[in-house]
Amino acid sequence: MVVKIETPRGVRTVYWRVDPARPDPGIIARAATLIRGGGLVAFPTETVYGLGADALDPQAVRRIFAAKGRPVDNPLIVHVADRSELAGLVRDMPPAAARLVSAFWPGPLTLVLPRSPAVPPVVTAGLDKVAVRMPSHPVALALIRAAQVPVAAPSANYSGRPSPTTAAHVLADLDGKIEAVLDGGPAPVGVESTVLDLTATPPVILRPGGVTAEQLAAVLGQVIHYPEKTPARPQAPGMKYRHYAPKTPLWLVEGPPEAVSGRTRALAAEARAAGRRVVILARTDGPERYPDDRVVACGRNGDPASVAAGLYAALRECDLLGADLILAEGLSLDGLGCAVMNRLRKAAANIITAGEDS
Ligand code: TXA
Ligand code: MG
Repeated sequence: MVVKIETPRGVRTVYWRVDPARPDPGIIARAATLIRGGGLVAFPTETVYGLGADALDPQAVRRIFAAKGRPVDNPLIVHVADRSELAGLVRDMPPAAARLVSAFWPGPLTLVLPRSPAVPPVVTAGLDKVAVRMPSHPVALALIRAAQVPVAAPSANYSGRPSPTTAAHVLADLDGKIEAVLDGGPAPVGVESTVLDLTATPPVILRPGGVTAEQLAAVLGQVIHYPEKTPARPQAPGMKYRHYAPKTPLWLVEGPPEAVSGRTRALAAEARAAGRRVVILARTDGPERYPDDRVVACGRNGDPASVAAGLYAALRECDLLGADLILAEGLSLDGLGCAVMNRLRKAAANIITAGEDS
């Protein structure tokens, strides 16, 4: 059963602009005081903005679910500011954990491990496993350090909306529901961390993200891949919910690049003929390939990291254009392309494979 906690209203959200590389210690101290007092503070990480609360305070953690409208059976990631804090949050540290921590922390890799009794069950939605990550963003690290507690933080969007990569995105969804937002400019990676379950042998990627399957394989030898080897039942509780979705219906066109362009052009022409307003989510050369349509350009061909960096802002922009249909070009699953395609597939109301039939 999905239980939602009622959303509170009427909090005044404080906005603080900070230098992403050297955040003002006075502002960080005030934000940390809010966290220690049971408040909710949104902050930039290298992946997306997070909505932080004291992970050891069940009441504060419940407020995260309420502010986001998030189902309480979807667990949260606990964020730490030092590698040494992991040991206090988990019951067991397989040797692979130490290797991954030294290879990828701080950075966009979340490790799922057996939960220590120190972590309140509300954080893990009652699961006996806890997800932990050490972000690399200087503002995130400074805030967690100053708070002197581990910080539970989901992405700082309203549940089901695209994750926020700017403070403006956070305010669009959560203004008046959280105590503060730290604006450190755009989140550089643009898609969330990779979630890796180390309680399984071999480890399983529950969510592809900022650390690629190729990078993990280089350290671990073997990883079972998600979504290529999709388990019958979703493993990460969050996977069963429709995610990352713009309000406008999105159709994803997958396949070889030539075929994708041709099929997207044809679909756009059909929709236009039927009187529908279309926007095409394409790479930066999109305006040349789709001269008759409105294009939101995101990232360069052959550079999936640039697509990831702009993806969520582009989805929000598509919504603002007031179209009836978004046609999104797919990309290859190499590197960060895997995380981008995972998000686009979840956002899509319809997935079309170009080059197979027409
Ligand atoms: O990059 C990120 O990971 C961002 C930034 C803010 O750190 N956070 C983020 O959190 O994306 P969220 O809550 O939006 O997504 C967390 C994902 C969900 O799919 C959730 O189900 C999964 O991690 N997860 C969390 N705890 C888990 C656990 N104990 N076992 C399995 N999956 C877990
Ligand atoms: Mg999220």
